[in-house]
This record gives sequence, C-alpha cells and structure tokens, in this order.
Amino acid sequence: MQTQATYDYKVVRQFTVMTIVWGIVGMLVGVIIAAQLVWPELNVLEWLHFGRLRPLHTNAVIFAFGGCALIGSSYFVVQRTSHTSLFAPWLASFTFWGWQAVIVLAAITLPLGITSGKEYAELEWPIDILIAVVWVAYAVVFFGTIVKRKTQHIYVANWFYGAFILAVALLHIVNSAALPVSLLKSYSAYAGVQDAMIQWWYGHNAVGFFLTAGFLGMMYYFVPKQAQRPVYSYRLSVVHFWALIFTYMWAGPHHLHYTALPDWTQSLGMVFSLILLAPSWGGMINGIMTLSGAWDKLRTDPILKFLITSLSFYGMSTFEGPMMSIKTVNALSHYTDWTIGHVHSGALGWVGMITIGTVYYLLPRMYGKTEMYSVRLINWHFWVATVGIVLYIASLWIAGVMQGMMWRAANPDGTLTYAFVDSVKESYPFWIVRLIGGLLYLSGMFIMAYNAVRTIMAGKAEDAPVLAPAAAH
Ligand code: HEM
Ligand code: HEM
Repeated sequence: MQTQATYDYKVVRQFTVMTIVWGIVGMLVGVIIAAQLVWPELNVLEWLHFGRLRPLHTNAVIFAFGGCALIGSSYFVVQRTSHTSLFAPWLASFTFWGWQAVIVLAAITLPLGITSGKEYAELEWPIDILIAVVWVAYAVVFFGTIVKRKTQHIYVANWFYGAFILAVALLHIVNSAALPVSLLKSYSAYAGVQDAMIQWWYGHNAVGFFLTAGFLGMMYYFVPKQAQRPVYSYRLSVVHFWALIFTYMWAGPHHLHYTALPDWTQSLGMVFSLILLAPSWGGMINGIMTLSGAWDKLRTDPILKFLITSLSFYGMSTFEGPMMSIKTVNALSHYTDWTIGHVHSGALGWVGMITIGTVYYLLPRMYGKTEMYSVRLINWHFWVATVGIVLYIASLWIAGVMQGMMWRAANPDGTLTYAFVDSVKESYPFWIVRLIGGLLYLSGMFIMAYNAVRTIMAGKAEDAPVLAPAAAH
C-alpha cells in the first residue's frame, strides 16, 4: 500500500509555540525597562540595568519573537504553495534548535554586558558565526523546497520571504565583520563614519527586510487565506515587491542626519525614504483591499481584525517614517521619544499584530483542529492589544514633540530655556501611560498563551497530506 506524503508540520509547530514563549519573554523585558524609566530605583543589579536589558528586549522581540514567527510561517507557506514537503527536514530541525541556541546565548551574554555595541547587532563574534550557519541552513531548506515544488508558479509570498532570507544573510555577514581579540571581544572591521554608514545600512534594512519584507510574505499568504478571497491585485503585488526591495536599500542614511556622514548621502537617504512611501502604501492597499466584498467578515472574525489592523499600523508607520526622514523634521524628532513611538507603532501595530493573527491561524491547524479553543478570548486579546498600542504610541508622540521643543527653546539672550533634566521631569506622566500601554499589550499575550495551551491540549498534532497541484493551497 502506498502511504500518502505529508507536509512537515513538526518544525512549524515548534516555531509557532516558541513565537508565543519568546513574545512573552521579550515584552516582559520591555515592560521592565519601561518601568525602570519611570522608577530608576528599579535598576537594582548590574545585570538587570536598563542599559543591559534594553538590547535584551530588542533582540528578544525582533529576533526571537519575530524570527520564530517568520521562519515557522515561511516553512508552512513554502510547503503549501509549492505542494511539496520541506527539502531536508533534518536541516529544518537544525535551524529550529540552532536558532533557539542563538536566543539562549543572547539571553546570557547581553545581561553580562558582553556586546559589540552595534545596535540590533550586539551579539559577539562566536554567536554571529552561529547565526550565519543557521541562516545558511534556513536558506538551503527554503530555496531547496522552492526548487522541488510541484507548481509552476512561485507564489508572491515566497518572493518576499526569499528576499528577506537573502538580504538578512548579506546584512548580517557584512555588518558583523570584525577582528576578534578574545573569545568574547572583537572590534569592528570598519572605523569612524564608514562604520556608522555600514551599521545603519544594516540597521535600516533590518527594519526593511526583517521587520517588513518577511512580514509582507506573511501578509500575502494569511490575509487572503483568512479572508477567503484572492489577493486584490496580483500585478500590484509584483510591482510592490520590486519597488520595495529596490528602494529600501538606499534609505539607511536617514538614521545619520546631521552627522559626519557626507551631506549628499544624508539627502539621498531622505529622498529614497520619501519614495518608499509609495511601495509601502501600495502593499498596504493591496492587503486591505483583499477584503473588498467581504468587509462584513471583520465584524465577526477577530483573526481578520488582527491582520487588517496590522496593515493600518503598517500604513501609519510607513507614512510617519518618510516624514521623520525629512531633515528639518528629524532635527526635532531625533533623540526624542517620537522615534520610540514610531518604532512601536511599527513593532506592536504591524509586526506584533500580523504575527498574532498568523499564530491564531496556524496553531489550531498544527494541532488537528479548525479553530482556537476560544474565539471570544481572541476578541479580548484584540481589544486589549489595540488599546495598549494606542496608549503606547500616543503618549510617546506627545512626549517626543514636547522634548524636542524644550531642547530647542531659547531665551532672547540665546541661552537655553530648559535644562535637559526639565524635559525628563516633564516626561514622567507620558512614560507612565506608556507603561500601562505595554502592560495591556503583554496581558494580551498571556491571554493568547492560555488560549494556545487549551487548544493544544484539546487537539492532536498531525501532519496534513500534501495536496495535489490542482487543489487549493
Ligand atoms: C509590551 C510590549 C513592549 C514594551 C512595553 C516595550 C518597551 C520598550 C522600551 C521601554 C524601550 C526603550 C525605550 C527608550 O530607550 O527610551 C523599547 C525599545 C525598543 N523596542 Fe520595545 N517594547 C515592547 C514591545 C516591542 C516589540 C514587540 C518590538 C518589536 C517587534 C519592540 C521593538 C523595540 C525596538 C526596536 C526598540 C529600540 C528603539 C530605538 O532604539 O529607537 N518592542 N521598547
Ligand atoms: C517607509 C518606511 C519607513 C521609513 C522611511 C522610516 C524612517 C525612519 C526614520 C526617519 C527614523 C528615525 C531615525 C532617527 O532619527 O534616528 C526611523 C526609526 C526607526 N524605525 Fe522607521 N521608517 C519606516 C518604517 C518603519 C517600520 C515599518 C518599522 C518597524 C516595523 C520601523 C522601525 C524603526 C526603528 C526600529 C527605528 C529606530 C532605529 C534606532 O534608532 O534604533 N520603521 N525610521
């Protein structure tokens, strides 16, 4: 008797569960550092100081929470849209354990103060090498699966995931080039303004490819699936892809306005950031319009609410970003909480919500169920998270503009009107509101964890049979 081939869901299950676990850990650290800004006396032990926990937060939410969601969902999408199982499943399993090892090593070294000092690339060289190895293995599994696909066409979601994989490999390897002086210490291969340029070429494209292109891959699969409609315009999705990946690569210098970087490079970064509004909004419109003719589903389907609201936040943060890249606006916003507000409208609103929607889609299917244990709890999660984001970003926008205005206020004789500490004192009420927003968002994650545990306990993990090419994805 011939047994039917099945999709490899085990690794998808593992990554999906760890997305929830690392989401809670990373956001809990976010809440702790938000509290430390309100009550500095919470900086008790040197390992738990704000300066050590902040990079732990950013690494945990971006690379652990976001990374597990991206790798796991890409393994699911590439199989379903290629009508084939994963290429080299043992290597896929290695990517899971390798990635968890990277995360654990980060969680140990960062609080110990072992860091290369480069933002979003703080991990020291031995961990960097492990990341490169795991990432190459990931690329082999993903592109190997594309090569063995049973379909002629490569669905657009895979283009976005593929660009994310290739770009992150390039960014990581170039930006992490360093000269080790001991097991735990190295110096960057670049110096001075070149180092800054490479770092922000990396930093901005980490936003563009890790926090954007990969999640757009997710959007192009899960929004149409959950809405049960085809993508609004497939042609637009292809234009969106090429325009986005071409433009992102040039925008990095907007992180270095008014620095020693040559002026023309700063202007170039600004112009490309303004251009970036067009592909970003093209993608957002394509996602949201996928719902046309089915808007009523938004009333009853909380998973769709997560997915569509995430696109609204994507639109908002990709409007705000180009505005902040204008040099005169950046002169006000840079160094203030406005930047942190912008980051979290993208992070909590776009990245967080699309991931949560995707996990709610995947989890029951991974455990042989059609639905989560409680749809009502998904609704609760949605509202708690949305109110949390609004509190977080609105308070920091106000605080940010206030800080910028206070720092530049001058008396008629040219002296500064306010000391820096005055702006810190005025910021406290806003930081308290941000903390409340963060706590709400984190409680939503706990609701999700409870719902997930109940779903997993009720279901049986099983792999679905591989579809014949003619069948739907
Ligand atoms: C409960 C949720 C969260 C809370 C309470 C929180 C809180 C914070 C705080 C207090 C900071 C430091 C701000 C400062 O230095 O003044 C921060 C920075 C940051 N967070 Fe979060 N965060 C949360 C979730 C997330 C998520 C989900 C992501 C990404 C997916 C994220 C990405 C970042 C990034 C990239 C920074 C650095 C921003 C910069 O340097 O400009 N955060 N967060
Ligand atoms: C068209 C798209 C976007 C543009 C042009 C843009 C532009 C900018 C600008 C001008 C800054 C401030 C730089 C500074 O003053 O230091 C910034 C900071 C940042 N943005 Fe965006 N942004 C965009 C979308 C996004 C999205 C969707 C996310 C997150 C998912 C995001 C995450 C960040 C982060 C993490 C930072 C802080 C970097 C740091 O200093 O540590 N951005 N962005």
